[in-house]
Amino acid sequence: MRLILLGPPGAGKGTQAVAIAEEFNIPHISTGDIFRYNIKEGTELGKKAKSFMDQGLLVPDEIVVAIVEDRLKQEDCKGGFLLDGFPRTVAQAEALDNAIAVMGTSLDKVINIQVDKEVLIERAVGRRICKACGATYHIKFNPSKGESCDKCGGELYQRDDDNQETVTRRIEVYLKETLPLIAYYQEKNKLAVIDGQQHIDKVFTEIVEVLRGDL
Ligand code: AP5
Ligand code: MG
Ligand code: ZN
Repeated sequence: MRLILLGPPGAGKGTQAVAIAEEFNIPHISTGDIFRYNIKEGTELGKKAKSFMDQGLLVPDEIVVAIVEDRLKQEDCKGGFLLDGFPRTVAQAEALDNAIAVMGTSLDKVINIQVDKEVLIERAVGRRICKACGATYHIKFNPSKGESCDKCGGELYQRDDDNQETVTRRIEVYLKETLPLIAYYQEKNKLAVIDGQQHIDKVFTEIVEVLRGDL
């Protein structure tokens, strides 16, 4: 199964991606996570990406495309993959079409998780992430039981770009750069729209129904 998760910042892509990847046994590829890992490790890529991410801007297409092309060549992507946060521009989508064609295969589905703008800011600003295992929580909508991660006991932190100002910018960038992808994939008959303002488990159930219906 070759999938893309589309949706604005804070829509719940990462939350759903973890569960979908497990359900269908495919690797979860998040470009945001790849950048954050590189920032943590202090790599050149991380330094480059950080300057854009901290401003809520997109990392340039050529950098992101090269990373995803490399990642898709790895053995674990042979049986499918789930892209979370890529593509984010029409140029990235076209590059991905090429890469998938070169692999001799095709995309199965693009899931667009739809959430109203007003809800997105509260979701992103209240998000907390485990430093050790990457599990995602929300102080109000999906709180951990204590101060630390329920799954592994790791320390919880807030992303540098999860403040009101940067989230607002990220949403503006989404509307300008990424929203056109909805029409792009609709035209290719690949798009499924899911209401992301339901309970996390209900969103997941609906996504699985759509995907199983396609099998
Ligand atoms: P990235 O890390 O991809 O961030 P994003 O797209 O802004 O999306 P988020 O991770 O903020 O949200 P999400 O949809 O994953 O939501 P989540 O599940 O965590 O990218 C970060 C940056 O990297 C970009 O700004 C850019 O600079 C760069 N970048 C990355 N990819 C790029 C690309 N392709 N091209 C160029 N630059 C790129 O959920 C959010 C919160 O809501 C959580 O707290 C969660 O617990 C809660 N929640 C989730 N679902 C629900 C629900 N149903 N009900 C209530 N609460 C919920
Ligand atoms: Mg995410
Ligand atoms: Zn953890």
